[in-house]
Parts: sequence; structure tokens; C-alpha cells
Amino acid sequence: MRRWWRAGRSVLLEYEDATLSVTHLTDAIARVRATPADFLPRRPWSATPPDDAFPPVEVAVEATGDGVTVRSGGGLAVHAAATGARVAVLHRGQTIMMDGDGGGPAWHADGRATWTHRMPPDENYLGFGERTGLLDKRGQRLACWCTDRYEYQGAGVDPLYQAIPFYLAVDAAGRSHGVYLHNTYRSVFDLTAQREQRLVMAVDGGELDWYVMAGPTPAEVVTRFTHLTGRMPLPPRWALGYQQARWGYDSAERIRAVAADLRRHDIPADVLYLDIDHQDGLRTFTWDPEAFPDPAGLAADLAADGFKLAAVVDVGVSHQPEGGYDVFDEGHRKGYFLTEGDGLLLRHVWPGLCAFPDFASPAVRQWWGRWYASLLDRGVRGVVNDMNEPAMHDLPMDHPDSARVEPPLDTPHDLDADHAEVHNVYALLENAATDAALRDLRPDERVLRLSRAGGTGIQRYAAVWTGDNGSYWEHLEMSLPQLMNLGLSGVAFAGADIGGFFGDCGPELLARWFQLGCCYPLARNHCARGRAAQEPWVWGAETLDACRAAVRLRYRLLPYLYTLLADAAETGSPVLRPLLYHYPADRRGRQLADQALLGRDLLIAPVLRPGVTARAVYLPAGRWYDTRTGAVHDGGRHVLVDAAIGDGLPLFARGGGVVPSGPVGRYADELPLNPLTLDVYPDRDGEAEGELYEDDGASMAHTRGVRARTRYSYRDGVLTARPVGLLDAPARLVVVRVHHPTGPELTRLIDGGKSWTVRA
Ligand code: GLC
Repeated sequence: MRRWWRAGRSVLLEYEDATLSVTHLTDAIARVRATPADFLPRRPWSATPPDDAFPPVEVAVEATGDGVTVRSGGGLAVHAAATGARVAVLHRGQTIMMDGDGGGPAWHADGRATWTHRMPPDENYLGFGERTGLLDKRGQRLACWCTDRYEYQGAGVDPLYQAIPFYLAVDAAGRSHGVYLHNTYRSVFDLTAQREQRLVMAVDGGELDWYVMAGPTPAEVVTRFTHLTGRMPLPPRWALGYQQARWGYDSAERIRAVAADLRRHDIPADVLYLDIDHQDGLRTFTWDPEAFPDPAGLAADLAADGFKLAAVVDVGVSHQPEGGYDVFDEGHRKGYFLTEGDGLLLRHVWPGLCAFPDFASPAVRQWWGRWYASLLDRGVRGVVNDMNEPAMHDLPMDHPDSARVEPPLDTPHDLDADHAEVHNVYALLENAATDAALRDLRPDERVLRLSRAGGTGIQRYAAVWTGDNGSYWEHLEMSLPQLMNLGLSGVAFAGADIGGFFGDCGPELLARWFQLGCCYPLARNHCARGRAAQEPWVWGAETLDACRAAVRLRYRLLPYLYTLLADAAETGSPVLRPLLYHYPADRRGRQLADQALLGRDLLIAPVLRPGVTARAVYLPAGRWYDTRTGAVHDGGRHVLVDAAIGDGLPLFARGGGVVPSGPVGRYADELPLNPLTLDVYPDRDGEAEGELYEDDGASMAHTRGVRARTRYSYRDGVLTARPVGLLDAPARLVVVRVHHPTGPELTRLIDGGKSWTVRA
């Protein structure tokens, strides 16, 4: 190190061949950058705010013989070594990460740059956005590059649709930290050098730029990561309802029939999807005049029965040079599509040759957003941004040799960028356009938004589904760690296609998928065209009963789930959590990917293999209640429980929790939350607590304070309700059920107002 100096809120350190920059953004988040030349200016698609957007942080700089330490009053210190631009990060006096010998930044002849951290042998690595495989990613090489993975298979397939270069590291003692690689070029996390104990982050372009977030708990890391990269706006409450989709619902009659079947079979449901089948010639933002002659009428009729319609939007715009398709005409005339040489970049998607909007341009985003009116004006209340990696083929999609391709990396974008830089934010920018447009078109309505591709911070704009999975038991199993890692990566509201998209789902797999899928944050059954139907009623009474029971359980728990969504919107906390989220020091629970916590107070242990009628469940320390049987278990050990299909999902409640639930309607908002049921599960000390969030579920009034939060606490046999939000909960009946480990549960019916206490 030759010298160091302060530059604004950063400390710059000059080495022989590089400059290092250390910036404290909060007392627990620091940014570290290195460059062999000049630092690059901030891009508008950066997932993080400019450094100056954070309130100032006091730092002290201490120079000694072995380097320079930049320390905040809150105890986050970044130490830069005297040689080699290597860093170590300390939190409250303890080293949480370090580059180690031979580590640090490096620039290579092939144009790539790497940053090497030490990878201690007893540390686990989670997050990384959307991945196949199990929870911990030690030993793997993970690329960040949004990829259309049509009919993807199981473990080892990488990357998928989302590019989120973030990980959560948890050490042997359960102390956690997070690292976010702030670079939109293709990047790779290489965790294969286990023997050498090295974790390498590689980027194909741009700058070596990363943020470190201290914990020590996983929850604190996730909160800090989402403080940095954004949280989701609260979706409509009905978005938690059951959602039925299928590629191949190709007429208004089909949709009406599905709606009628759902009601006839008494399956609560809220959302029906219009896939590309609703489009005229598979062209985005059009309606097939024959199959869907009166979309507004369809939407209105369905709305009267409690259904909301969501419609798919593809980014490929059908190339129609002869005219007649306004989206292409206008985009072409204004020069809004990506180019190749002197012409348009044209590749094949569903309608044939397509052009692709350049979402890096603010003008294009504004223009694109306006087309969503063609859906909303006809009563559509949810949108699905699909094929936005962007997905494209070299030959017509139905040609036997058709292969997936990508825009050439040197494809020019707005702001002098090329596709190598923009690819990983292409879908993000599309979703930003959608978000801005929906806020403008429907300022007081929460529209459901779903996206297949995305990048860091996608949760600010849309929920996510895990793309084209398959109807295999392996995919059922994989969906759980996949969604948990997405949740740790900031994407709390996500789901996998229930029943699997490709392949043919049989009755047992369908029933099991419903049991797990109804605990996904987003519960959508979706299936590919031409594959075996997988609506809950196609396999007869036994399967139907199992599916119905799963959906009804979800609807009963809507008050609890909606509170979790509100928490996610406020703090970034995931809905579906690995055990280590709350029990990071529990070595036995930390790798478990076949069970999960739904919020803090419920534990699910789904069956993920055929023919299984019992399963082992690991219960972390404390007391746990089997909600199906009332059996009470001491945690810190495994239990074996009955798990035949008819037994329902093995679902445990944490001793110490109060779980709110409500009546089951045909759709989420059919019935008021009256009576409210509070299941009190006392811990070993006889205490419990919980919360309930409420608002109108659909408008933006909650952002203006029209919302209620009630905190329940139970001790010495008395349950107390106290409003902690701006508004009080409405007056209603409350059923209090105290689950006593020794005797039968105790039920009280009380007239609940705002604050109350009851002896139960
Ligand atoms: C893509 C989507 C899938 C959709 C299909 C047809 O494969 O991932 O959900 O059904 O396109 O639009």
C-alpha cells in the first residue's frame, strides 16, 4: 500500500497495481471496491442506492504496519492489508470474513476479474438467488446469468432464470454474514476449492464491487440485504389465495368451466391465468377475437364469483413488417427494439420471428408500460412477465433443431451499454417499467405481478415463480430449498408450479404437491400445453379430498400468512425459512432441506417420495405441537410421525407462538375475519406470543396508515391483545384455543375489541 486518503464517505487505499475503496453505508453494511484503473460511475440499473443516499456514518481510520483499518462506531471494521489489497472484515471485534493468503482482487489476461475470499471448512453458504439442488452450496460453481431453462432437470443444472449474486454465510457457531456482488455482468461463485478453502467470485466485465452485511443472525443479514436492495410492496391479500393456471386454457369457455369446476368441487380459489392462449396469433398485448371475444365480460362474470384474472406478457414482439400489429409498428417506428448490424435483432419466440424492446432506455420502459392498459382495461388484475431472460430461439419453436439462443453480447443498448452488461437486468428493467405503469394506471389498486426472470431486487416489482419445472418427485423436493434460498436472497413472495409444469403428474404426486405447494408463499398450479391435466379433480375423490384439504388449510391460515407478507414488506424476512434462519447454531437442523419453517411459528414436514406413510421430522430446541394430533414433543430431536396422504401435511406449531386463523371462504376476501381464531401454543414456561396484521387487502390505503397490527401475549394463563399499529383491529368474536400439553385444549369465545385480556 502506497498511501490512503479519505474521499467523501469512502477511504481510498492505493496499491502498486490497484486502488481499493472502503465505504461504510451503515453500522453493519460496508462496500468494498477495487480497480486497476478508475472507478466506474454508477449505472441507473444499480440494485443499490448511491452511497450518499445513506445517512453519514462516523468512521475512524487506524494505520499500522500491517495495514489500515476503517472502523465504524457500531463495530464494523474493514481491514486492508499492507500488501496485496486483501481485506478482512470484523464485526464487534470478531473476524467475520477474510481474503486470506493468496486471496483478494485479481485481474486476468482474459478480461475477467476475480476476488478470492477464504472459505472456512465449517461455514455453510446459502442464498445465491434461484438454484437447483439442496440448501448449502459448498462444492458448487454457480453462475449468475438469467437463463431460459426450458424443461430443466434436477441438481447440477445452472443457472436458472434469476441472477442474484448474493450469499448468506453461516459459521459453525451460527454467526452469519452476507456478501452481495454488485456487478451485472455474468458472474460466477466458485465454491469448489474446498481443500484450498477458497471461495472465488469472478466477473466477466465491470468492476470488482461487493457489499458485506454483518449479522450475527441470518435474519439480520437478510434485513440488511433488503435494506440495501429493496423490499416488496405488499401484494393484494387475494394473491395468497389458490391460483389455477394452465397453458392450454384456450377459450373463454374453458376458463369459465375451470372456474365452475373449482366452485363445484369446493376448492377455494382466487386467481385464474390467461396464458399466451388468450392472445391473437400469440402476439403480446392482443386478444384472440374468437376465443376471447369479450374479455371484459369474462372478467366481470368471474369477478362476481370471486375470481381475479391474470394475463401473461412476453417480451418478444412479433415481427410484422407488413403492418397491422400496433405494438410492433410503434416500437419499430420509434427505434425501441434491439438491433443487430443495420437491422433489428430478430429471433424466434412463440409467434415466430420477434423483436425485443431495449428496456435499458427510459423512453422504451415508459412506452412498454402503457401497453398494460390493454389488459387492465379489460378487467385483468394480475400480470405475468414471461420469457424475459430474454428467451429466444434460432429456428421456429416447433422446428426439431430449434435451439435456445441469446442476444449477442455486443448487442448495443441505450446509455452506451452492451448486452453483456444489461442481460442480467433486462427482466428487472422490464418489471420496473411494469411497476411504474401499474402504479400510474391503477394508483389505488394492488395489481398482482409475477415475473419469471429477474435480478437483485426483483422483489421491489414482482413475485417470482421458478419457471418450467417438471412433474417429478425430485422437483417437488427441490422446490423447497429453491424457494428457501430465494427467500434468503430477498425474494419472499415466490412459488414453484404446483404439480410441475412439464411431464405428466399422477395422483399421488399431485396430492403431495398440493400438501407442500399450499405452503409456498405463492400457490399456483400450472401445467404445460399437451401434458396430462392436473387440476385437483382429475384423479377422483381421494386425490381431490387431499388437494381440497391442503387448499383449505392455506385459507384457514390466511391471517397468519398475510402477516408474514406484511413482515416481508416491512423487513424483508422470508415467508418460507430454512431451520437455520431461526436456529443458526443448531448443527443438526442447519442442512435440512426437506422441512421448513413457515414464518417463525409453524414447521412443515412434507412427504417428498412416493409410497411413504410416515416420516422423520427434526424439531429444533423447544416445545412443538403436532397440529394434526395435538401430540406435544420436546425439540432438539427427531420424531417419527404418521404421514399417509390422508393424514394431511405434517404441520407443527412452535411452543411460544400464537397463530391467528380465520374462516374459510370460497375465495380469500369472501368472509370477514370473524370469528378470528387464536391458537395459543405455550412454551415450557407457559408463555406465547404472536401478531396479526390487517388492512383492506386490496387498495393502497395501508401505505397511508390504514392498517392494524395486534400483538398477542400469553402468560400466567392470561391472553392479552394490544394494538401496536396505527389502527385498532375491528370488533368481532375471537375464539381462543389454548393448547395444553397435559390436558385437552381450552376454548373461550370472547367479544374482541381493540385491547382485551382473557383468562384461558
Ligand atoms: C413459458 C412459461 C410457462 C408458460 C409458457 C407458455 O414456458 O415458463 O409458464 O406456460 O411459456 O406461455
